[in-house]
Amino acid sequence: MRVGSPPPFLDPTTEVRLEPLDAARLDAVLHIEQRAYSHPWTRGNFLDGVRAGYHMRVLVAGAAADETVLGYYVAMQGVAEAHLLNLTVAPLYQGQGWARLMLDALALWARGVPVQPPLATLWLEVRASNQRAIHVYEAQGYRRVGLRKDYYPDGHGRREDAVVMSLSLVSDVSTPRNPAQAPL
Ligand SMILES: CC(C)(COP(=O)(O)OP(=O)(O)OC[C@H]1O[C@@H](n2cnc3c(N)ncnc32)[C@H](O)[C@@H]1OP(=O)(O)O)[C@@H](O)C(=O)NCCC(=O)NCCS
Repeated sequence: MRVGSPPPFLDPTTEVRLEPLDAARLDAVLHIEQRAYSHPWTRGNFLDGVRAGYHMRVLVAGAAADETVLGYYVAMQGVAEAHLLNLTVAPLYQGQGWARLMLDALALWARGVPVQPPLATLWLEVRASNQRAIHVYEAQGYRRVGLRKDYYPDGHGRREDAVVMSLSLVSDVSTPRNPAQAPL
């Protein structure tokens, strides 16, 4: 399994697909995680997610025997909501739209989870300094809904705020009570 090796732009005929983030792909994921973050998740963090049954996917390119991990995400399902806990694109493949693709896939999954009540909201927290990620989330319809003061360590003995963002999974258009009330 290759991890972010050149060429950075995939041949347009290369198959790209989402697969479960399982133990077999954990080495590749950790390799990316350690290069993408100042405070990366540990193997134990990912394994806890696997054990807890979190929704964890890797985005891979190429044949199964020689696949390249482009990115991954981890989400935790709650009651009527889900939390995006990790979204990462391998540094070599950033800026090519893969994060948006994974966010689309996440929202599709969340809308289709067969539970009552259905999932209505996706939540996430992001470092206030991570303008790039905030830009991507806003472009995908997430809205800033709050701030958690001093939520993250900043690596210099200080703390950094988290921006809380959410995506509504339900339509804003209210359903008329009967067809006769439907607006023209
Ligand atoms: C944040 C991250 C997931 C985005 O992934 P990506 O595949 O590079 O994102 P995309 O290619 O889909 O989109 C990148 C967008 O960010 C914009 N961008 C790049 N740098 C930026 C910056 N410093 N400030 C604001 N926007 C920026 C690009 O212009 C592009 O927007 P556009 O499509 O409107 O032009 C990726 O950079 C990453 O994994 N970073 C490290 C881990 C991380 O921070 N994860 C999020 C934790 S909450």
